[in-house]
Amino acid sequence: MKIAIGCDHGGFSLKSEVIGVIESLGHEVVDLGTCSLEPVDYVDFAVSVAETVASGQADLGVLTCGTGIGMSIAANKITGAYAARAEDCYSARMARLHNGANILCIGARTTGPELAKEALRTFLTTEPSPDERHARRRAKIRALEATK
Ligand code: RB5
Repeated sequence: MKIAIGCDHGGFSLKSEVIGVIESLGHEVVDLGTCSLEPVDYVDFAVSVAETVASGQADLGVLTCGTGIGMSIAANKITGAYAARAEDCYSARMARLHNGANILCIGARTTGPELAKEALRTFLTTEPSPDERHARRRAKIRALEATK
């Protein structure tokens, strides 16, 4: 799979960990920045990753900032992006299995690196459930986009 990644200065410390997890699973990293601790606006990187995933140029995305909150709010403004902030393995699994999230947002200031890596591994190795009730709920979310 191709995995698009983006971070701001607050999430930069997790970047090499994120790349390591993705590569260890045999996936390709599409790095959309940022590439330093220089302050930037998280919104710009959230939009880049969300558009890359929503357009099909990447299969999934990972966004890191200080809390993961700003990234998730911004990414979810892009049609076809389903960004979930998950700070533990159970949430990361459910974000994929039940909600069909295609972008994982993690806070580098709120989640330790080992837990972040494990949550990312979980996210990347879980598929959306084919269960009718979960598929129906995901379809209802997609239908909301048509009303925008
Ligand atoms: C940047 O200081 C910080 O606001 C950002 O990384 C993020 O936490 C926003 O949600």
